[in-house]
Amino acid sequence: MEIGRSNRSRFYETHPDVGALRRRVLGRLAADPNRHFYFPNVVGGRYAPGNIGAIRYLLKCVRDDTSDIVELGSGWSSNLFQLYVGLGRTRSETIHYHGAEFTKSGRSAALALAAHDAHIRYGAYHFDYRKPDLSFLPEGKGHVLVFTRHSVEQVDLISDELYSQLAARRRPITLVHIEPVAWQSDPKLLRKRLKDDAWFFGWVKFRMARGFLTGRNQLHNAAWWSWRLGYNVNLLAIIDRFREKKLVELVAAFPDFDAQANIVNPSSLYHIQFLNDETAG
Ligand SMILES: C[S@@+](CC[C@H](N)C(=O)[O-])C[C@H]1O[C@@H](n2cnc3c(N)ncnc32)[C@H](O)[C@@H]1O
Repeated sequence: MEIGRSNRSRFYETHPDVGALRRRVLGRLAADPNRHFYFPNVVGGRYAPGNIGAIRYLLKCVRDDTSDIVELGSGWSSNLFQLYVGLGRTRSETIHYHGAEFTKSGRSAALALAAHDAHIRYGAYHFDYRKPDLSFLPEGKGHVLVFTRHSVEQVDLISDELYSQLAARRRPITLVHIEPVAWQSDPKLLRKRLKDDAWFFGWVKFRMARGFLTGRNQLHNAAWWSWRLGYNVNLLAIIDRFREKKLVELVAAFPDFDAQANIVNPSSLYHIQFLNDETAG
């Protein structure tokens, strides 16, 4: 399980002598150390920033009134099962877990795994980002935590209907994306992707293959990976549009925080709160 220590900042509260070291190590990041997302670590014999990890972050988004947790593009729902283990069986008595997945194999693997536990309230549903249908999510008053993890990435253009359907619900909704899309905030890279500029991405690959580490190569290489596989190009634009319409608020963003699985496909985290009228329903 990818859980780790539940409150890493407590260590620095009880050991103030180490606080200066923490500030120096995290000082290399633009991030606010008080956000409790990054913490000092040791990598290869040197101090370096680490992060609390996606599952621990999602666990922190669960509220006392959370009644539904939904993963979109959930595969075999390993993230949901980790949240279930992290929250525990007693807390999970009042939580429904929903795995919304495109493939039948993903849905049946998840159902088979869930059947090993006699207690989890788990359902698997067909879901497609191109034609999103959230009707599996019941009406109700409880808070809903929806998240995605490297599944939006798979679809070049997702439908903004997803956001419209969530905005139309009359219950508190948190949406957390953990997706490799930070490069989309660079207008030049986005233009190159939208133009399918093979010459530009050939140049990026040429430099990457020779190990260039200068400037904004990290963003360029991530855009190249996304171009190579026809990955998502419109998630950040949708978030921006719904922010402009004042339907959502961006609570926190941690661009490119981890790339251990694939250095050229780094995860970014966008924590969004829907501003729907929680009291009307
Ligand atoms: C890299 S896997 C990640 C799975 C899971 N989120 C995880 O972290 O283990 C990508 C997932 O996206 C799903 N996917 C691909 N196309 C999709 C689509 N059009 N709509 C919804 N999910 C899709 C795949 O079936 C797969 O489960």
